Amino acid sequence: MNLILLGPPGAGKGTQAKRLEQAHGLVQLATGDMLRAETASGSGLGRRIKAVMDSGALVSDEIVIEVIETRIAGSDAKNGVILDGFPRTIPQAEALDAMLARHELKLDRVILMEVDEAALIDRLAGRFSCRSCGASYHERYNRPKQGGRCDVCGAFEFVYRPDDKPEAVARRFAVYREQTAPILPYYEAKGILSRIDGMAEIDEVTRQIEAVIAR
Ligand code: AP5
Repeated sequence: MNLILLGPPGAGKGTQAKRLEQAHGLVQLATGDMLRAETASGSGLGRRIKAVMDSGALVSDEIVIEVIETRIAGSDAKNGVILDGFPRTIPQAEALDAMLARHELKLDRVILMEVDEAALIDRLAGRFSCRSCGASYHERYNRPKQGGRCDVCGAFEFVYRPDDKPEAVARRFAVYREQTAPILPYYEAKGILSRIDGMAEIDEVTRQIEAVIAR
């Protein structure tokens, strides 16, 4: 099974992708995480990517498509993938179709998580992530169960994202409206787009996604 989780910044894509990974043995391919790993490497490319990400703009299609193609060709993707944060533009959606065809893979579902902008601002302002595995938490809605310890990997260090600052968040919303929302008709026309209520609490969102997958 190959899925895309679509939605604006803070919709809960990463939170739900981690749950789907564990429940279905799928592999989460999160372009944001992959790009952050490149920035952490300190390479020249990583420094250029960091400047773009911190501002809230999109990294070039060329770079992101190459990153995804490498992972889709990998053996761990054979049981199925959850694409989180990709595609984000029409050229990326077209490139994805071409690469899936090359690897004889099929896209089963595109799940759009719909959330109001006011709720998104609140979610991003309170978000922090595990420094080690990237699991996403929230100061009020989704705290680690055991105090300061990551539920997923047990690590004790957490980080806040530079692009969750208000100026970058505003830019990310504008970029979503202008460049990413136009891909919705692309998938609607293929008959594989499902919309879910991303405003619901986290377990309920998981239930809605499971219901879509089970159809
Ligand atoms: P990326 O890392 O993909 O960020 P994003 O799409 O903006 O999405 P987020 O990770 O911010 O949110 P999410 O939907 O995963 O929400 P989460 O589960 O964390 O991209 C970052 C940057 O990388 C881009 O701006 C761009 O520069 C670059 N990039 C990445 N992909 C690219 C591409 N394809 N092309 C070009 N550039 C690319 O949840 C958010 C918070 O809410 C958390 O605190 C969570 O605990 C909480 N929460 C989750 N669900 C709920 C709920 N139901 N109720 C209450 N709280 C909830």
